[in-house]
Amino acid sequence: MFERPRAGERAVLVRLGLGGSVRAEDLEEFQALARSAGAEPVATITGRRERPEPRYFVGSGKAEEIASAARERGAELILVDHPLTPSQERNLEKLAGVRVLDRSGLILDIFAQRARSFEGKLEVELAQLKHLSTRLVRGWTHLERQKGGIGLRGGPGETQLETDRRLLAARMRSVTRRLQRLRLQRETGRNARAGIPVPAVALVGYTNAGKSTLFRALTGSDVYVANQLFATLDPTVRRLRLPAPIVIADTVGFIRELPHELIAAFQSTLQEARGAQLLLQVVDASDAQRDEHIAQVNSVLHEIGAGDIPQLRVYNKIDRLGLAPRFERDADGQASRIWVSAAAGSGLDWLREAIAERLELHVRRRWLRLPPSAGALRARLYAAGAVREERPQQDGTLELQVELPAAELATWAAQPGVQLVPDTPSRSSRRTASDTGAAAAPCAPQEGYLESTVAPGGTAVRY
Ligand code: GTP
Repeated sequence: MFERPRAGERAVLVRLGLGGSVRAEDLEEFQALARSAGAEPVATITGRRERPEPRYFVGSGKAEEIASAARERGAELILVDHPLTPSQERNLEKLAGVRVLDRSGLILDIFAQRARSFEGKLEVELAQLKHLSTRLVRGWTHLERQKGGIGLRGGPGETQLETDRRLLAARMRSVTRRLQRLRLQRETGRNARAGIPVPAVALVGYTNAGKSTLFRALTGSDVYVANQLFATLDPTVRRLRLPAPIVIADTVGFIRELPHELIAAFQSTLQEARGAQLLLQVVDASDAQRDEHIAQVNSVLHEIGAGDIPQLRVYNKIDRLGLAPRFERDADGQASRIWVSAAAGSGLDWLREAIAERLELHVRRRWLRLPPSAGALRARLYAAGAVREERPQQDGTLELQVELPAAELATWAAQPGVQLVPDTPSRSSRRTASDTGAAAAPCAPQEGYLESTVAPGGTAVRY
């Protein structure tokens, strides 16, 4: 139903610098996007304007230049790296006689090719239908005159157009209903997870930074990895022990100028990021644009309401730079940046350690006092394997010695009627190594970063 660049389809690429010249890195990224969609760039046309021109977006002289480049190079497609209005797209198509796709159309197309789960596919389809409907509603008056070409064209005029609109509206309703059902199921799953205090971590990052490779390296699962932009479109959630259990989710790759309709479309994957206690922002350390990409990812995170979630930055692909793994702390002594190679598997022990530290997963042994009515809570603590000792008190309360990750301990202690028994000298004499914080001992704040090496066998040697 949807037109898309066919494999090896010859394309003319167009990008203007608005109010300045075109930046080489923007052009490179656009070329990579085009290739990701399966197109073969045969010519790249750039230019600069103060503002878009209503008829073609580009000026009419530039439009002629694009059309003749398309003819000379035998192009079947023109890709414009800007959002075009439906009429600009149509005018350019009429002038050049080949299909035109704008940036949103191109990214949608890549998303459509990459979506793997049922939910992801439906989300893309809905976004495509919406994109298409604006183009239909605003009138494909030249549809009747032009045979073939774009997906829904070629009908015998107005009647066909009406049919198309009706079909489109019906399909949108059906996709929306199915998506609503799926989202409800996902929500139920997420709530079930929320019932057990298991912290959630989400991998976020610019497209192609290596999120899926890292996800696979950490969880051992066979997530799809490809050297293509947006290889990942569906959130993948796995459990991991660090040493306490956490859930970790891979999410869609972010990109500069991600069309708004797409941010809205990828609710399910972005929801995983919004619901996380910690975000691992994966950065391609070998990319010259890495700082800019970090800023762009942060701005998308902000937009989806995940801007305030604590982050741990993971600088990936250090093998490309010939660097050793590194563990860096910020001025407060908090683990802040870990330098790894997901592909080579180096630095991952430190990453696990940093996640555990940031989520306060290290196990503590403490006493909890439960009210007489908290039989169900006691049963849950036993079921979780957390209880080490039990001491009934004369007043009917019950003291349980439990061994739990710090964050989880705080959750249990916050239950109605439950108290954390203060550590007394006699009690602290019973402390274990983990209780004294040996395993979780925060390292002294350091200046800059800590250079570290990984011992043979992959065990991280800590500072
Ligand atoms: P999107 O799905 O586009 O968001 O990509 P992603 O961030 O999930 O990246 P992915 O894991 O698909 O990796 C992108 C490319 O980088 C693949 O070709 C990987 O093999 C490569 N890659 C990932 N990690 C490393 C690494 O540590 N070193 C090197 N040299 N390449 C890596």
